[in-house]
Amino acid sequence: MPSSVLRIALWSTVGVIVAALIAWQWGLPPFAPRPPGGAAAVGGPITLVDQTGATHTDRDFRGKLMLIYFGYTFCPDVCPTALQVMTVALNELGPKAKGVQGIFITVDPARDTPAHLKSYVANFPGLIGLTGSEDQVRAAARAYRVYYRKAGEGKDYLMDHSSIIFLMDRDGRYLAHFSHTSQSGAMAAAIAKHL
Ligand code: NI
Repeated sequence: MPSSVLRIALWSTVGVIVAALIAWQWGLPPFAPRPPGGAAAVGGPITLVDQTGATHTDRDFRGKLMLIYFGYTFCPDVCPTALQVMTVALNELGPKAKGVQGIFITVDPARDTPAHLKSYVANFPGLIGLTGSEDQVRAAARAYRVYYRKAGEGKDYLMDHSSIIFLMDRDGRYLAHFSHTSQSGAMAAAIAKHL
């Protein structure tokens, strides 16, 4: 008899633990979207120079959402596509777009000087172009876990690079990300949720 009592007590305990675990699992909030690469933190301090030659840090954009893309102006297709989607999405937001700063950060500072960026970003209203020293660009890319590498020789080299459009909150913290294949309407809707 004592052994069967013990067995019942034991199974009851197991049952309670299992029930608690199930309740805990179901009680968890839905998982937040993870930054690319599973990194816990995307974003951080950046110091770069815009297309007019003015120095900017990430703190200059506090109070606005930041929509950020890393690429380079000589990119034949992916970068123009990404920047076009960003521009159209911002345009679709109408007056609310004032709450968002579109930012293009080059990973090719050797060719993408402020003067060169100026004519390039003129094609993408609402975006500013940022460049800087090799070290400044490397630090910015690292903060956003963006990969880039020179591919090829001579003046017509290409840059391999990650193609991720980051949406950051008013304090510079990660909210969501998109790709150059994202639809502008979906991007605008996702941004609008935070405005
Ligand atoms: Ni590109």
